[in-house]
Amino acid sequence: MIRNIIAAIAVILAIWASVNMFNLDMEANKFQRISELIKSTAMEDKKLTNVQQPVVQQPVQTQEAAASKKNDEVAEKLKALREKAGNLAAFKTSPLYKKSCASCHGNIGEGIIGPKLLGDSKEKILAALQDFKSGKRKNYVMYGLLSNMTDQQLEDLANEISTFQQKLDEATK
Ligand code: HEC
Repeated sequence: MIRNIIAAIAVILAIWASVNMFNLDMEANKFQRISELIKSTAMEDKKLTNVQQPVVQQPVQTQEAAASKKNDEVAEKLKALREKAGNLAAFKTSPLYKKSCASCHGNIGEGIIGPKLLGDSKEKILAALQDFKSGKRKNYVMYGLLSNMTDQQLEDLANEISTFQQKLDEATK
């Protein structure tokens, strides 16, 4: 119960933060601060008063290095899409994705304050969603979003997101 309330509050705060981000100049260091803030919402067993501690110190640097080349490529395509279609919002996604996910992961999963999902396989995405929902992977934001979704919805979302890369490729051919 308490868990759900905290999760709901975390989601609201995070969405509020992400909406505000859109209104501000998206400087890199602001990004950093917001994503750290979100990271700090990662669930830590029972120690809710301790959320300030660096809970999920993942090897960010190695991840970033590997991702950065791919990111350049994606950035190019996003730019091309913007020029071609006029607007990324023209990219058609389901109402559920648009409403629940796009604010943090981007209109086509390019990643904003949530990580980039573009290019991930259906299996990888679905596994992540299931783990967030079950609490195996601990994150209040994702848990709060997914806790009321059905398994079918998770599967549909994973399915949809896994097609984004192809859609982007086609749109920028
Ligand atoms: C309020 C911001 C926010 C919203 C809205 C949001 N996410 Fe997330 N998402 C995150 C953050 C932050 C993480 C990273 C959590 C972590 O690694 O502990 C994440 C992680 C993920 C991951 C794992 C990615 C990876 O590479 O490990 C998937 C998959 C995902 N989200 C899908 C979704 C889907 C589908 C929705 C819509 C139902 C959604 N997210 C909505 C913030 C958000």
